[in-house]
Amino acid sequence: MVYIILTMVASMNGGNTNMCGIVGYIGSKEATPILLAGLKKLEYRGYDSAGVAVIEDGGLTVVKTVGKLDKLEKKLEEFNPSGFLGIGHTRWATHGRPNDVNSHPHKGYSDDFAVVHNGIIENYLELKEQLIEERGDVFASETDTEVIAHLVENYYAGDLVEAVRKAMAVIKGSYALGVVSIHEPDKLVAARKDSPLIVGLGEGENFIASDIPAILNHTRDVYLIEDGEVVLLTKDKATILDTDNKPVERKVFHVEWDAEAAEKGGFEHFMLKEIFEQPEAFKKTLSGRIQDGKVKLDELEFTKKQVDRWEKVFIVACGTAYHSGLIGKPLIEGFLRIPVEVDIASEFRYREPLVNEKTLALFISQSGETADTLAALREAKAKGATTIAITNVVGSTISREAHKTVYLWAGPEIAVASTKAYTTMLIAQYLVSVYLAQVKGTIDKDKAEKILAALQELPDNTRKILGQKDYYLRLAESLKGCEHLFFIGRGFDYHIAQEGSLKLKEISYIHAEAYAAGEMKHGTLALVTADTPVVAIALQEKTYEKTLSNIKEVTARDAYVIGLANEGDTEILKTVNEVIYIPRIENIVSPVLAVIPLQLLAYYAACVRGCNVDQPRNLAKSVTVE
Ligand code: F6R
Repeated sequence: MVYIILTMVASMNGGNTNMCGIVGYIGSKEATPILLAGLKKLEYRGYDSAGVAVIEDGGLTVVKTVGKLDKLEKKLEEFNPSGFLGIGHTRWATHGRPNDVNSHPHKGYSDDFAVVHNGIIENYLELKEQLIEERGDVFASETDTEVIAHLVENYYAGDLVEAVRKAMAVIKGSYALGVVSIHEPDKLVAARKDSPLIVGLGEGENFIASDIPAILNHTRDVYLIEDGEVVLLTKDKATILDTDNKPVERKVFHVEWDAEAAEKGGFEHFMLKEIFEQPEAFKKTLSGRIQDGKVKLDELEFTKKQVDRWEKVFIVACGTAYHSGLIGKPLIEGFLRIPVEVDIASEFRYREPLVNEKTLALFISQSGETADTLAALREAKAKGATTIAITNVVGSTISREAHKTVYLWAGPEIAVASTKAYTTMLIAQYLVSVYLAQVKGTIDKDKAEKILAALQELPDNTRKILGQKDYYLRLAESLKGCEHLFFIGRGFDYHIAQEGSLKLKEISYIHAEAYAAGEMKHGTLALVTADTPVVAIALQEKTYEKTLSNIKEVTARDAYVIGLANEGDTEILKTVNEVIYIPRIENIVSPVLAVIPLQLLAYYAACVRGCNVDQPRNLAKSVTVE
């Protein structure tokens, strides 16, 4: 039961998909060590740079650096900022590479204001240009956050809360903010929209943080801040203000969990947390990229002439990322009418692929550092291909070396088994393929609109699937003792079967194989007995009847079958032992939803078999050797 409460808190608090870590302190103790210790508690989230800002003798000292917290610690020893009010941040690069200048906190145009920010400001370029034009502002960094600092300073007229609120009125996107100013050295202001933020309540001291672990050493009493709220903290009081600037009564949430559970947002494992983060991750991947029924991908900006030139497309990746590419192939072929080959990166370069200047090559990688994918990218570039990276890690080698990069914005993925990166890779490929077809003029407007509408409904539909987690646990229990298992499906469903099977293998160590459902009878059916359960995916309308026939082939061999079907499909009940339903959506987009129950099935199978879910044997999160 504790678990359910924690899950609820995590989702109330925005699903924890913030990319970075925020800590803030106001009280009577030295702020710097408290900020540093708080940031250390957020290290598990992954980051590439860090910094603090402390109000010191009426001035503002900002110390920040690219790299890990030990580097910041050394720098802090040198500068030794001393004061009782400060904000700290660990950054996971979004806008602008990881370097000293892009690290947070960011100052306004003077040395009077400092801001830390988690999230993404979608209209920052527009606002930045406006500030440059109208006020001649000079910006030090490439970040979206620096724009917020300038806006707050610009709006400041003696009331920091008011200035933050005015900035909030013009920025679009997601944020958790911590703001300090030398003009109000006894106040810390924070605000939230679509990015987690909590307030820690102490005796004569108060805290802000993006995540509970950061403050657990000081207090277990917190306020969970909601969207649109601004918080004004002094050392003795924390006032939550609603959108009309009226104080809000908030119940104090008393944290019962230990520090380790808190790092996982109350979830038992990072993998489960990341599965549950998918609705928020989807919103971020889609954010600002669908406008007026069209895809807008400023990071690509190809001309029709460029797109028309491509005669062939390669999609190259490893493992789960490769599986996502298998879904990308029919999308690009269908929308652009260009042949697509999908290659495992470690195979690509050794088979002398027919790549030339008329080739587009997509490289998909969560980490952006996978050695085989990187080598394949270099090979394709050397042969004259135009290259696009689809990756989650800003500033990663693959993102730097490809001609263009589309980021997933899924937030750090810590569990070895990839979940939210896979689904956001799919979404990115829907966006890229529709975008390229728009430029080429080969996609029907209605069709594009339907797909884009379905993409936007994914977060809500995903929540419905996540709501049935107890059922997946029960199904996983029924698979606990099995040695071998098949996943079958046709078309998109086959590719989802491939990903479902990989997930189960890598974390539960049950041997699983994915098969194109129609192919079983050409040999593999010999292995099907009452001891080989089959997960049968039957979502694609085009092949539905055929898939049902294939399911009958395995039930005739006494296999126990778990079907995966569209909501309302009662026909399937006649042929399977159990059924998992997913919300019925535009058929072409169903893969994104279909994989989620399979992620949960693999997760619970690993749990009931007592496996190390987050760190399966023999595997590493980032494979940087060929
Ligand atoms: C499986 C998994 C791996 C990765 C593969 C590529 O759950 O995570 O198969 O997908 O190692 O990694 P990236 O995407 O970082 O290139």
